[in-house]
Amino acid sequence: MKGVILAGGSGTRLHPMTRITNKHLLPVYDKPMIYYPIETLVNAGIRDIMVVTGGNHAGEFLRLLGDGAEFGLKHLSYSYQEKAGGIAEALGLAEHFVDGDRFLVMLGDNIVEQSIAPYVDNFRAQQRGGRLLLKNMDDPEHLRHLGVPIIENGRLRFIREKPQTPPSPYAVIGVYMYDPSVFEIVRALRPSGRGELEITDVNNAYIDREEMEFDVIDGFWGDAGESIDVYYEVIDFVRAHGVNKAPAMAGR
Ligand code: DAU
Repeated sequence: MKGVILAGGSGTRLHPMTRITNKHLLPVYDKPMIYYPIETLVNAGIRDIMVVTGGNHAGEFLRLLGDGAEFGLKHLSYSYQEKAGGIAEALGLAEHFVDGDRFLVMLGDNIVEQSIAPYVDNFRAQQRGGRLLLKNMDDPEHLRHLGVPIIENGRLRFIREKPQTPPSPYAVIGVYMYDPSVFEIVRALRPSGRGELEITDVNNAYIDREEMEFDVIDGFWGDAGESIDVYYEVIDFVRAHGVNKAPAMAGR
């Protein structure tokens, strides 16, 4: 299975730091942020990876990551997003790379403690559609900045993006698995109120078709781009406990 890491966007919530660099090049404890999602994919057995980036600092990714040798990869692919037109727009740029396969997309500012390999296996066993990962946060303050699902009778019914009143205790984390029909959905999207193509609209389209499954993950999860305070919460966690643990460590 192929993997796509989205590392464009404008990173305005981490200004002024992100005026002088791309958010995903900022340090998270002892490594640039972008290292963590790459390690997550490699640990899940995904070795054919594209990084989508943008803005004025895109060239730095090539200098930093090269062909991915540091991660045991033979090659890394890159794409360039002209403007921060939204997560779904960035995802659309991977169509040629994905080339009709099923694939996994990870947001470049998401950091997970435990391996996602079991959930990737669940997706492999699925006939069609997509798969989301949820994290039980039970913390409205966080959830108001994230996508939050409504779940009824064990099925996803709808996802609300950044709801004032979260409809469940779960966050939709930035790890999404799709079949290639996702690109038709992206092409049919209209920009949201903030002028972006929204990943939540993509996911709701799959939910409408009753083709979206989910798992609830264990362990720590953080969106290091959520706010400056969460950025430091993530760094503190990584420093104290480590992340991207091998599958054998899961649950310890
Ligand atoms: O982190 C999980 C959350 O990510 C989900 O719960 C939300 O449903 C989802 O919309 C998303 O929310 P954010 O507000 O955190 O998205 P953000 O705009 O910060 O973008 C996340 C990543 O996507 C960012 O690290 C870079 C990439 N991106 C974003 C935009 C807007 C791009 O590559 N291009 C873009 O144009």
